[in-house]
Amino acid sequence: SSHCVLNNGYSQEKYTFKDTDGKHINAHGGGILFHKGTYYWYGEIKEGESYSMPSGSRRVDAGGVSCYSSKDLKNWKNEGVVLAANTTDPNHDLHISKVIERPKVVYNKKTKKYVMWMHVDSEDYSYARSAVAVSDKATGPFTYIESVRPNGYIARDMTLFVDDDGKAYHFFSSEDNKTMHIALLSDDYLKHTTTYKRIFIEKSREAPAVFKYKKRYYIVTSGLTGWHQNEANYGSSDEILGDWTNYGNPCKGKDAHIPYYGQGTFVIPVNAKKNKFIFMADKWNERDLKSSTYLW
Ligand code: GAL
Repeated sequence: SSHCVLNNGYSQEKYTFKDTDGKHINAHGGGILFHKGTYYWYGEIKEGESYSMPSGSRRVDAGGVSCYSSKDLKNWKNEGVVLAANTTDPNHDLHISKVIERPKVVYNKKTKKYVMWMHVDSEDYSYARSAVAVSDKATGPFTYIESVRPNGYIARDMTLFVDDDGKAYHFFSSEDNKTMHIALLSDDYLKHTTTYKRIFIEKSREAPAVFKYKKRYYIVTSGLTGWHQNEANYGSSDEILGDWTNYGNPCKGKDAHIPYYGQGTFVIPVNAKKNKFIFMADKWNERDLKSSTYLW
């Protein structure tokens, strides 16, 4: 119930990222795939009216997953809906009454398929599963496969990371959001293996964004306060399934305690060899989720 924190001191306009049609980019909780010279931005479609749940939390109908493409990270072409929400079957994982969040897409060199993982949930967030979809093209359409509880654990906020050796890892908030899991995916990226590591035990971190720099792995996470901003932390480890150390807040200056009114979602390795990365965050507007903006 702290509507007042939203966009304080910042103009909405500045954080409205427009596509090449001049429309506000609709790709929240997003992630970027860089493939054959093109950046693909996938994210949550947030459309229609936001409304309050009995618990007081705010939601908008699940809108599926969008994709935008760009050569320069500045001019974004709308590639349309790559995974649609279901409007007819309330039991379907992707039904509009559910939650589809933080979709991330990776490319599998062996199968030549584009694999999407996302967080699917019921509107009270008790379903807490990870879902997978696959496509032959970066711009979809993706075919929905299934949702799972990885190794029997609940899964909410998540990201994917593909290492230099082609192995893919699924990072997700688990165990009632108290502990983060890193699970190794199968070679085709469509399943979880039984290899996983629990990190930041009982530290209640979410919104993971992962990158690698000079053989070391880094993660940026948020705390756990729903749509409301909180302090980011960063951590690192020499081994991806090793013992990660959590450091403090990586942000500096005005509003650094609430990442400048943003919550992280992804880190783009623009030119990792030259130490160039872009941190992507969402500026959630819980009163009207579709007008949430971005901060990079
Ligand atoms: C946040 C999470 C978002 C969304 C929101 C709903 O904690 O990072 O992705 O799930 O809660 O309240």
